[in-house]
Amino acid sequence: MKIIVILPFFCIILPLVFGDLKVGFYESSCPEAESIVKKAVQNRFNRDKTITAALLRLHFHDCAVRGCDASILINSTTSNTAEKDSGTNDDVRGFDLIDKVKESLESACPSTVSCADIITLATRSAVALSGGPKYEVPTGRRDGLVSDVREVNIPGPTSPVSIISEFFNRNLGLTTQEMVTLFGAHTVGVAHCSFFADRLSTPDPTMDPALNTKLVKLCSSRDDDPSTPLDQNTSLLVDNKFYQQILAKKGVLQIDQQLALDKGTKGFVTDFASNGAKFQKSFANAMVKMGSVDVLVGSQGEIRKKCSVFNTRN
Ligand code: HEM
Ligand SMILES: *[C@@H]1O[C@H](CO)[C@@H](O)[C@H](O)[C@H]1NC(C)=O
Ligand SMILES: *[C@@H]1O[C@H](CO)[C@@H](O)[C@H](O)[C@H]1NC(C)=O
Repeated sequence: MKIIVILPFFCIILPLVFGDLKVGFYESSCPEAESIVKKAVQNRFNRDKTITAALLRLHFHDCAVRGCDASILINSTTSNTAEKDSGTNDDVRGFDLIDKVKESLESACPSTVSCADIITLATRSAVALSGGPKYEVPTGRRDGLVSDVREVNIPGPTSPVSIISEFFNRNLGLTTQEMVTLFGAHTVGVAHCSFFADRLSTPDPTMDPALNTKLVKLCSSRDDDPSTPLDQNTSLLVDNKFYQQILAKKGVLQIDQQLALDKGTKGFVTDFASNGAKFQKSFANAMVKMGSVDVLVGSQGEIRKKCSVFNTRN
């Protein structure tokens, strides 16, 4: 993705990468940045393999509102209800890890590494640890100055494929194929009954009957709101099994199942289900592209000192 522009008279070589993001942005300003993030993610991963799912969802929910600007990390105050407190973000996890990494980075290189880049780098490291692709991500994002719960408009799992596609195309500048690729993130993590209970009461004919029986039992247990893996086969691995599962009618969320049935998406699903290497490569590319949505760069925004609060300005 590197375009070298050579201006003949001045012999200036200008690598243009993803707008103003570039791989190795902190190479001189904070050479340890990427390894500090990686080490912290590794430590957490050793104790909790579900951190990968947490970070993938956190990253998406950040980028899907005002671009990847760490707006999701801001705590609400008496005068501002932030994105974090949207119902859509109820089960989003991983904030504590990001806050902790930020603390380490502030002691290594104060006011240098953005929270938006920490989310991106941490997700990249977690994906690699879970058997997913190892890829480079461009950095140089800045942190946003706004986080408003009213701006969280991510469609829900019972929305039709057409609505979700439109959201990806129009709001995020991502193609339908990239959308199907990113849904591959549902290869890890869980969904709570409240998100798919409507498929159970009157059995959804697009769901495998054995899975239906299993989920009916799970969701009628006394637990508050139990959860089940989105990928019923290998829920801790970033692999292409999710696509095989939805082709076998074992999608848990309605939207996941519909991806395998919709005319505009099922071709991509079939392709990824049969070609794990292609999925891995496409997933890395799509993650880099998602991570570049509407980023703040240069002197825009700020570099927060704490990821959960804006810097105080005078
Ligand atoms: C508009 C499109 C999407 C919808 C409607 C959607 C919906 C959902 C729902 C309902 C859950 C269950 C949450 C819970 O019960 O805790 C979930 C979980 C998850 N989603 Fe999505 N999702 C979408 C796109 C994405 C994308 C693009 C990614 C990442 C690239 C992603 C990554 C995840 C992950 C990893 C989990 C598991 C989280 C965990 O275990 O904590 N999703 N999603
Ligand atoms: C933001 O909220 C979280 C969770 O409630 C809390 O742990 C954290 O300390 C808060 N951040 C600040 C800077 O107060
Ligand atoms: C996952 O799928 C494979 C076949 O693709 C099967 O052999 C294996 O038993 C499945 N594992 C689980 C936990 O469902």
